[in-house]
Amino acid sequence: MKKNKQNISLLKVENIKLKFGSRMILSDVNFSVEPGTITVITGKSGCGKTTLLGIISGLLKPNDGKVYFKGKNILRWGDIRRSFYRSKNIGFIFQFFNLLNDYSAFENILLPTMFNPFARNASKKAKELIEYLNLKAISSNHPETLSGGERQRIAIARAVINNPDIILADEPTGNLDDESAEDINNLFIKLAKENNKAFVIVTHDHRIVENSDFHYHLSDTALVLQTKTKNRSKKPAAKKPSSIAKIKPAGKTSQNKSDSTSRKNTKKAAKKTSAKKTK
Ligand SMILES: Nc1ncnc2c1ncn2[C@@H]1O[C@H](COP(=O)(O)OP(=O)(O)O)[C@@H](O)[C@H]1O
Ligand SMILES: [Mg+2]
Repeated sequence: MKKNKQNISLLKVENIKLKFGSRMILSDVNFSVEPGTITVITGKSGCGKTTLLGIISGLLKPNDGKVYFKGKNILRWGDIRRSFYRSKNIGFIFQFFNLLNDYSAFENILLPTMFNPFARNASKKAKELIEYLNLKAISSNHPETLSGGERQRIAIARAVINNPDIILADEPTGNLDDESAEDINNLFIKLAKENNKAFVIVTHDHRIVENSDFHYHLSDTALVLQTKTKNRSKKPAAKKPSSIAKIKPAGKTSQNKSDSTSRKNTKKAAKKTSAKKTK
């Protein structure tokens, strides 16, 4: 986890408050995100997780608070500047993939470059990405002919084609079988660790939570950092996400035991993947 030279976080969310009508959805939301890390947000249905992703991406304006991207408060910008910010710096991954069936996988991957005035050599980049993410065999298929896992792999390529710093994923494995979910989780790890991407993932998937660097829980309008307590006796609980140390997973139940096995497998698989970088 690296901060830049001025010690400015990639993304810093401060004192966010948001109401829909008279209902308070978010009232105490503070966190920051650094390159190369995976941050997970859990919370029960309807608590405001998707709303929070909308605020980070500049789609939704909160009633109060600040969202700093590389030290600049995006909430002070007008709609056009915020939409440039979104095109250039944010990639999105959704539960139901949101691919266009009339276009091939390759064309779907290219779509965000059409709305990005900064995009250059898009086709070449898409081909490199297809190689890097092992999607060659399915790149000319249309989404409706692909499995859920394959569709989500295409959606991941689409999310990173503009080379954004931040990738927001909303329940990305919520519609996938176990094996595909594992595969998708490995791609997240690969992109975070090999390409320094910052992920903010809303999920209930224990694999993604286990492999995250930071786990926050949203409850009663407040976002609270969860301490992964597996090695609690060895290490004090981290109070702030400013520590570089990976916070360990929670106490060893039989569930957690199998989780840690799956995590080892996940890490092995991530190591095996190509070291070639996307540019
Ligand atoms: N545009 C909106 N106007 C009014 N209420 C909304 C709007 N968007 C979401 N909500 C409500 O805000 C709450 C939080 O929504 P959401 O962020 O989608 O929850 P989650 O993603 O945690 O399930 C829900 O009760 C939802 O119905
Ligand atoms: Mg949601």
